Amino acid sequence: MARPTEVLLTDETIRQRVAQMAAEIRRDCPGDLHLVAVLKGAFVFLSDLVRRMDGAVSLDFLAVSSYAKGTSSSGEVRLLKDLDIALEDRDVVIVEDIVDTGLTLAYLQEILRARSPKSLRTACLLSKPSRRQVRVPVEYIGFEIEDRFVVGYGLDYAEQYRNLPYIGVVGERGAAG
Ligand code: IMP
Ligand code: MG
Repeated sequence: MARPTEVLLTDETIRQRVAQMAAEIRRDCPGDLHLVAVLKGAFVFLSDLVRRMDGAVSLDFLAVSSYAKGTSSSGEVRLLKDLDIALEDRDVVIVEDIVDTGLTLAYLQEILRARSPKSLRTACLLSKPSRRQVRVPVEYIGFEIEDRFVVGYGLDYAEQYRNLPYIGVVGERGAAG
């Protein structure tokens, strides 16, 4: 697949929205906050988000695989890397790049809720509401976008383009379906 053909969200647009999201999360969770980022796609979002927060914040990472390769979901979610830190009695926010079908987040929320956090919320930079297959609560959404496959700012196509500072579109409309 060629380089992105279109810029959907510029780095400046993303920067402003991420700062707002950090403030929203901080308003809801003013005390000790524990962010759980989903590798690899959320690494850029997390790094910008966390630097916009003051006060006590701890971080942990997990990795899942839902897309074997390419742009179509297999619908299967596997935990590839588990957390290092227990969630019990913590105010936890899952930090994810994008909610598409919702299958990944539904799975993650179920397994993390079973670990007895004090609270569990979810922050996603992007959402494709038209693609949702399962209902999943996402308290903080950066941008709702159409059903187009996007890359950059951490998001990949076949492990490429994560380094782009903006979010761009590759391929045609509906390519993710
Ligand atoms: P879901 O389980 O279908 O909600 O898929 C969530 C995961 O699919 C995200 O964490 C991404 O890794 C990946 N994904 C979904 N849509 C896109 C996209 O447009 N670009 C890049 N990755 C995507
Ligand atoms: Mg992801």
